[in-house]
Order: sequence, then C-alpha cells, then structure tokens
Amino acid sequence: MSNTKISPSILSADFSKLGEEIQNLEKAKADLIHIDVMDGHFVPNITIGPEVISKLRKYTKIPFDVHLMISPVDNFIKNFAEAGADIITIHPEATEDLKNSINQIKSFNKKAGVSLNPGTPVDKVLPVLNLIDLVLIMSVEPGFGGQKFMSTTLEKVKILRKEIDSKKLKVQIEIDGGINFENSKLAKAAGVDILVSGTTIFKENGGDLKKNIQLLKTG
Ligand code: DX5
Ligand code: ZN
Repeated sequence: MSNTKISPSILSADFSKLGEEIQNLEKAKADLIHIDVMDGHFVPNITIGPEVISKLRKYTKIPFDVHLMISPVDNFIKNFAEAGADIITIHPEATEDLKNSINQIKSFNKKAGVSLNPGTPVDKVLPVLNLIDLVLIMSVEPGFGGQKFMSTTLEKVKILRKEIDSKKLKVQIEIDGGINFENSKLAKAAGVDILVSGTTIFKENGGDLKKNIQLLKTG
C-alpha cells in the first residue's frame, strides 16, 4: 500500500468544463486537486483566480491544493482562503516577509505551503520549516505544464527529507513539474510525500485518469 499522495494539476484539464473534470478526478481517486494560479507577472502565463475556485468548490470535497504563482501575493491570500483553498502555497520571491505571509495563511485556518523554484536554494525555506505544512519543490520553471523534469531538484528533496525527519516536523514534501511514471520512482526514493502531475495524468493511457493516478501512486 503506497503512502504517496497524488495531486493532479488541472492546468492540463479541459478549462471549458473544469467542474466535470474535477468530478472525474474524484472518481479516479485523486487525493488532492492541484490548482495552478498564475498572474502573468510572477510567471509568463495567466490561468484562473479566486472567483473560479469558489465556483469549483461545490464539485468535490477533495482538498484544493492551491499553488499561487502570483506576486505580490499578500493582497490575495484572503481571497483564496475564502474561495475554498485548503492548502495555500506561495513563493518566497512573491512576498516581502515570508513569515508574515505564512501567518496570514494560517490565520484563515488554511495549511501553508512554500514553493521553491529550481533556482531557489533550499535555505530559503529551512528557517520557516517549523511554521508550514508543505514544501512544494518545483522540478520545472513555473508557468507551463508539459515541461521536462529537472532531476537536480531532487537534491533539495533529500536535504528536506533529512531535516524534517531529524526534527520530527509535520511538513509534507510535494514535487511539481514534468512528473511521469519513471521519474516518480526517483522522487519517491528521494523522499517526497505528494506527486503533482498534469500532463502524465491527463494524457497517458488515452487519458485514463484512474489508471494514471494508480500507476503514479504504486509504480
Ligand atoms: C507549472 C505548474 C505545475 C504544472 C505541472 O508551473 O506549477 O503544476 O502544471 O504540469 P506537468 O505535470 O504537465 O508538468
Ligand atoms: Zn503547480
């Protein structure tokens, strides 16, 4: 029985029917729903905002794993909390005061995550590891699905795994970007708890969501 959780990224879903797509992911036994929010400023792409998330909330009880690729991020934490996000993950580069932003997220009784771009050192998150619930390791440059996995980012997973285990912290490690049936094995061996996947889950095996989620989970 695999403890690895799967968080499908709806960036690869059909945006014309996101409610139905989320229901299909629930039927396919997704553990979380990864929602990529992009503002065209922090990353060179624009996706959806809190209004859309609030409309999607009624389609499932599965936790919304909301990845905010927006800056400045502080102005919008309340909106996403009220829209129904369960985990709100932010990038250190998107705030003047990371601790303050994390405390803001937690003030809404939401789980707080910090995401590290491939070029962001793991030292950025170590000082706040005791305050957060999730570290999201980007294994691609944020902004688009379908990119190639950057295996060097697994080094950060290994460092975090050691740090979290030695200090018996409650933080989960999530990896995001270019995950497929091969590199997911490497990610699990490095110590991740949650795999994010868009392209592999929505496109492999003729888009058989249940099969692809199961293969990532137990492969
Ligand atoms: C990229 C997003 C990822 C991406 C993953 O900026 O944060 O969640 O959608 O998609 P794939 O699995 O296609 O790389
Ligand atoms: Zn993401």
